[in-house]
Amino acid sequence: MSLLNDVLINKKTSINPIWIMRQAGRYLPEFREIRSKNTDFIKLCLNPDLSSEITLQPLKRFDLDAAIIFSDILMVPYGLNQKVEFKKSFGPLLGDLNLKEMSELDEIDFVQRIFPIYKTLNLIKKNPLTKNKNIIGFVGAPWTLLVYMINKQSPKKQLIDTFYKDDFLLNRILIILEKFLKVHIKNQIDNGADIIQIFDSWAGLLDQKDLPNYVYIPTLNLVDYVKSLGVPVICFPRGIKDYKNYCDIVKPDAICIDYEVDPLYIRKNIQIPVQGGLDPKILLTDIKNLKKEATRYLDIFKDHPYIFNLGHGILPETNIANVEYLVKMVKDY
Ligand code: CP3
Repeated sequence: MSLLNDVLINKKTSINPIWIMRQAGRYLPEFREIRSKNTDFIKLCLNPDLSSEITLQPLKRFDLDAAIIFSDILMVPYGLNQKVEFKKSFGPLLGDLNLKEMSELDEIDFVQRIFPIYKTLNLIKKNPLTKNKNIIGFVGAPWTLLVYMINKQSPKKQLIDTFYKDDFLLNRILIILEKFLKVHIKNQIDNGADIIQIFDSWAGLLDQKDLPNYVYIPTLNLVDYVKSLGVPVICFPRGIKDYKNYCDIVKPDAICIDYEVDPLYIRKNIQIPVQGGLDPKILLTDIKNLKKEATRYLDIFKDHPYIFNLGHGILPETNIANVEYLVKMVKDY
């Protein structure tokens, strides 16, 4: 059995498996080399040979316990026929959204638009490098995808003024997203993913009173669906204030915590397996500090089922020697 599942399913506390959010990506020179020759990011995500190669790159360098498929949460809006581009030093830029067209889209057309992603998973699964390792599939949570689809770019600190103007539109899109996210989850599992992570990167933008409608209910529906397929699900509601309430309502198999929450509070108040926490900026400091901060998380979660990870994606400027050190020290703990 692979190590992440030993924590997620068997609640084992004596091991600390490790993977790193955004492990396949911009801090690796071998990724940047492929990326420089492939300027269209969407096309790169739809190229199974290259996407599987990028997925495996971090596994060749580091003793990680899981591969996460190289893809993006915005492949779902793309599959729903909304234009998605990634602009250099700007990030994602989405086109106008046509609700009527989106409501009429059928499953076959959606799957056809993003089909190569499932081929990528197949290639990863077949590769000897993933033997005895977990393969993580993922989706964006409905709320975070709604943010990108309406805001049409990363919100940074706030949403566009008119974001909440059309309540009908927002709720219709949530329903459409739920339907197609389930399709995307099922296809990832059928093609080799044995864990699903749900990224809710913008959960922290919501007022407390809006969490039930935009976060709890739509995410709970997906969590129940993943569980019904017999696969563990990890949720990452970045920036929310009340992780305990989230876990009580959404009931994921594990909760991934961001770097702003107090790990001591989490250990005391949350019973399910925990993942992550370490501030990615710590990887930009020196080895001594890295050791101290990483050890703090390992010590706090010593008797708790815990998967080591960061509290958000690894930063592009991260030095590879520090990643090497971190993986080794977690393994040797
Ligand atoms: O290694 C992995 O984790 C797998 C690949 C992965 C990517 N994106 C590749 C990527 C995963 C899991 C994601 C998730 C994702 N994408 C999230 C949720 C996690 C988070 O960071 O909060 C979000 C919000 C996105 C949307 C997105 N994609 C943004 C905002 C950007 C631009 C900023 C950035 O991080 O680069 C992307 C582009 C993107 N997705 C890149 C990669 C490797 C960089 C592409 C490039 O080279 O320009």
